[in-house]
Amino acid sequence: MSILVTGGLGYIGSHTVNALIEAGYSVVVADNLSNSKAQVLDVLQQITNKNIPFYQIDVTDEQAVNDLFEKHPIEGVMHFAGYKAVGESVLQPLKYYQNNVLSTITLANACKQFQVKKFVFSSSATVYGDNEVPFKETMSLLPTTNPYGETKAMGERILKDWVNSDSSFAVSLLRYFNPIGAHPSGLLGESPNGIPNNLMPYVTQVAKGKLKELQVFGNDYPTSDGTGVRDYIHVMDLAEGHVAALQHVTPGVHIYNLGTGAGTSVFEIIQTFERVNAIKIPYKIVNRRPGDLAFYYADATKAKDELGWYAKRTLEDMCRDAWHFEKSLNLIQIK
Ligand SMILES: NC(=O)c1ccc[n+]([C@@H]2O[C@H](COP(=O)([O-])OP(=O)(O)OC[C@H]3O[C@@H](n4cnc5c(N)ncnc54)[C@H](O)[C@@H]3O)[C@@H](O)[C@H]2O)c1
Repeated sequence: MSILVTGGLGYIGSHTVNALIEAGYSVVVADNLSNSKAQVLDVLQQITNKNIPFYQIDVTDEQAVNDLFEKHPIEGVMHFAGYKAVGESVLQPLKYYQNNVLSTITLANACKQFQVKKFVFSSSATVYGDNEVPFKETMSLLPTTNPYGETKAMGERILKDWVNSDSSFAVSLLRYFNPIGAHPSGLLGESPNGIPNNLMPYVTQVAKGKLKELQVFGNDYPTSDGTGVRDYIHVMDLAEGHVAALQHVTPGVHIYNLGTGAGTSVFEIIQTFERVNAIKIPYKIVNRRPGDLAFYYADATKAKDELGWYAKRTLEDMCRDAWHFEKSLNLIQIK
């Protein structure tokens, strides 16, 4: 029996494939390579020393998904596949609803048909909207400011309704905060196409000289130093959180925040990155981005109490590993 990891060659999915294999699971990967490279599979096989079955399919394609379930006995699904660029989702909402919502329905239907009982879903802290911090799993979902966030809230609702109709299915909705960092080997990490949307790849590309300077979106927020505060989590911790969620999932729907519970500002990231890597990050303050919140972070106690999982790696680890990966990129030619 295997765990099907959709989007398993992407940033979080690839680290989770590695963590699952380390924990003793067999894994099958499905990815259409819309935002990843086939070489990531080679790297994963090299790191884990395992042959990992891979299907280059679109998981909105019902026939392709059903064929995969026919071929492989699947024990559970971890569904990472989706588009994730907030700004792009505002410009191309239909593309986002089509991919993110349809993929979830297609996979849930396959699970129903093939009686695969475990499903772990990549959700996001975005679904909390502008609730009071720290965000707790018991809070009502508030409207998000963009179609991407709405696709995550919809995905959650679809899966809840599905389990309401048949309580033998076991679903874990994992609300991620801000994953950064990379595998300590420097072989796996985040390497977005084009200008990065997220802070850390932007910082590492400035450090490498690919980009001239970091744009800091606003320094007049009501935070300690005026810059936005987020709950950054090492992607290796996040990956291990998935393994814990899978190991503990029982029939019904379970929601967990995967964050550290601590907020870090943009300036703190820059200073930590400069200190641990001994490299200067030139930056410029620019206007706030519409829709950005001043600060948010997780209440991460539920995952600790129920899954026995908590984020162990430090901000220093995140900055060091992210830079190590960026420096290795040309060597391994994964873009
Ligand atoms: N990175 C974050 O900050 C963050 C935060 C919260 C939630 N998430 C969610 O976590 C998941 C993984 O994020 P990531 O950062 O690893 O993104 P990513 O873009 O690196 O990985 C997604 C992978 O899914 C693949 N994919 C996309 N649509 C597909 C489809 N229809 N069929 C098959 N493969 C498809 C892409 O090729 C890519 O390899 C996404 O669902 C994302 O929305 C990410």
